[in-house]
Amino acid sequence: MSNICVLGTGYVGLVTGTCFADMGNNVTCVDIIEEKIAKLKQGILPIYEPGLEEMVERNVHAGRLHFTTSYEEGLDNAEFIFIAVPTPTGANQGAADMRYVEMAARMIAQELDHYAIVINKSTVPVGSGDVVSRVIRNNLKRPEVNFAVVSNPEFLREGNALGDFQRPDRVVLGSSDPEAAQSVARLYLPLRAPILVTDIYTAEMIKYASNAFLATKISFINEIAQICERLGADVKEVAEGMGHDKRIGRAFLDAGLGYGGSCFPKDVRALAHMADEAGLHPQMLHAVMDINHDQRRLVINKLTNILGSLRGCVIGVLGLAFKPNTDDMRESASIDIIRWVTAQGATVRVYDPVATETGRAALEREGINLDMVEFCQTSYDVATGADALVISTEWNEFKSLNMLQVRAAMRRPVLIDGRNIYEATEMNRYGFIYRGIGRGT
Ligand code: UGA
Repeated sequence: MSNICVLGTGYVGLVTGTCFADMGNNVTCVDIIEEKIAKLKQGILPIYEPGLEEMVERNVHAGRLHFTTSYEEGLDNAEFIFIAVPTPTGANQGAADMRYVEMAARMIAQELDHYAIVINKSTVPVGSGDVVSRVIRNNLKRPEVNFAVVSNPEFLREGNALGDFQRPDRVVLGSSDPEAAQSVARLYLPLRAPILVTDIYTAEMIKYASNAFLATKISFINEIAQICERLGADVKEVAEGMGHDKRIGRAFLDAGLGYGGSCFPKDVRALAHMADEAGLHPQMLHAVMDINHDQRRLVINKLTNILGSLRGCVIGVLGLAFKPNTDDMRESASIDIIRWVTAQGATVRVYDPVATETGRAALEREGINLDMVEFCQTSYDVATGADALVISTEWNEFKSLNMLQVRAAMRRPVLIDGRNIYEATEMNRYGFIYRGIGRGT
């Protein structure tokens, strides 16, 4: 059993801390936002993540998981200090904002009174491990104290975070201190995953390259989808056919509205920015971003091709979150779709099984006129009186709707399936004018 401190209680911090506690370690999670910690102490989570609430409760109850706003309390006796704070896109053309990481490093320097290994989990620009070391070294209140820095990028997917932590494809550890890397490796041993030890720069790069590659797969299949649509092929079957080739793999070949969320958009931008800064012109990364941006526009094109002007239309939107099983709205396709259709004078009816409050807040933050947006309780409410229905997130419950009932409730039977969850022949049978993405219709 080890004493672990986790700085930051966002997705990564909370999942990491809770899962390490579940493995029997003694974990203290620290966050500077008092309200968040107060709620966590009452068992109220700041995020929706399947299974997490129960796991937090179990480990708090067992006395292995603690929450505090005090760095002093968090760092007391900690052998391992994980930094898991946000690195949002900064003001500087896509560069990652290191403000919170540096702040965490400074706080560690103030409180540390014993040897500890500082492990960076936040996705930071390549070379940041050195920055963390330098900030701690330069601000140490007790200069005699020793520490090591290890980079340990995370590969958790929202909505699947517990499974990804407990059954990782690999654990990556970067450090110039092999002993420190081995100590961190021991924490992960019970997971029986391949552990790769590299230098810090390489570990940081593995994270960016992995996310950029997955984003590239998505933009690639979205480009193929557009070609399929023109030439009369079906991208879903194309992806299936490609995916059987082990060199390609089926994962991340779902054409749709492109990638959103807090990671891919930010990380592809940041990697492109790092390359630009280094005097390179990363053509593929820029193409990946351009394709992703245009992909969302397809919905508007499809709507106007069928309905003509959207002025006065009622557009139903099913799904607000950037993907299913999360309430996360960051860079969600639904925001752009709602922005564009309301700008053209349509009103919108929306429903998401989970992302209602986060959805409302995100739309408001984005300056969308909420008078034009009605939040509904069910998918059928959304369909009522609608001139078109847009599937923007592939929640499971949308796959099993009574489509006859949906069709009957609508004013005009237009169905734009932004996530390819239905089949054209079946939807045509129900009387819908159906458009998927890249399906030759
Ligand atoms: C992603 C990575 O998958 C994780 O490995 C990584 O740890 C994480 O970013 C991170 O850097 O923190 P996440 O953003 O939670 O995880 O979501 P994904 O499941 O990867 O989906 C990202 C976006 O791609 C979603 O908008 C999804 O709808 C879209 N997507 C995914 C597609 O459009 N097509 C696909 O085939 C797959």
